[in-house]
Amino acid sequence: MSTAILPTPANLSITPRDRRFGRDAAAPRLWHGGRVEATAIYNALSSTFPIGEAYFVESVRAVRHGAPPKLAEEIKAFTTQEAIHSREHDAFNKRAAEAGYDLSKLEQRVEERLAVARARGSFANVAATMALEHFTAILAHQLLANPAHLEGAEDETADLWRWHACEEIEHKGVAYDTWLFATRDWSRWKRWKVKAKVMLYVTRNFLVDRTAGALELMRQDGVTGIRAWRLLLTYLWVRPAMFRKIFAAWLKYFLPGFHPWNEDDRHLLAAYDACAKDAPEPTRKVRRAA
Ligand SMILES: [Fe+2]
Ligand SMILES: [Fe+2]
Repeated sequence: MSTAILPTPANLSITPRDRRFGRDAAAPRLWHGGRVEATAIYNALSSTFPIGEAYFVESVRAVRHGAPPKLAEEIKAFTTQEAIHSREHDAFNKRAAEAGYDLSKLEQRVEERLAVARARGSFANVAATMALEHFTAILAHQLLANPAHLEGAEDETADLWRWHACEEIEHKGVAYDTWLFATRDWSRWKRWKVKAKVMLYVTRNFLVDRTAGALELMRQDGVTGIRAWRLLLTYLWVRPAMFRKIFAAWLKYFLPGFHPWNEDDRHLLAAYDACAKDAPEPTRKVRRAA
């Protein structure tokens, strides 16, 4: 059996921040600076979270049996964080629906993808979760590191995205470490092969589905055809270019010796927490996952 050295920082604390967003005042339909394409891509991402994050939790929990105590604790904190994210994005998606968007096609697509993944068994599920958690973590890093991505967005909605990004960075190693634990008897080659194949598959689906989802929402705003493609592709790949800017970090996943915590970006969390100090205290205690 190979023994894995887990480079997750020993002093990392995964702390669910039980915050609520957008309950008091309605944000405008085009909450992202009045821009159709910017609102559409964030709304498309949000439509996947409640279903997707429940799947991540289910996948990690399915293989956690016998995990060492530190990892078991991290899985609990991860579960709690994802459950709160789902609650907040569910509320966000309801507001988008109230503003007139129909997200049902987008949600249905996620369900279809997950049905295919689930049929492939628990290792495939953890591999898909680990790949998507890497995606979320590098998107989160970019979102927090570069203010251009949320420029012009309505304040509280922007705060929801920063809060979520922050916790995604904090728990970015959990699915990965769970995978290392679950596949501890596999050879390095087999691990790499499955991990790389699943990442390529997940990336293709992610790019195709989120682009299609955003175009569908833009269509609901009356923007279609070449104009829609031009606006969306420029936003994602040219300026502020979220997808282009995460490419180098995405590529690192394939390097031998990769681990999400090879890059310690906790300074971004510290900056967020310092700004959020003025945020109202949560009114309810965080109920930790079992
Ligand atoms: Fe999340
Ligand atoms: Fe996550």
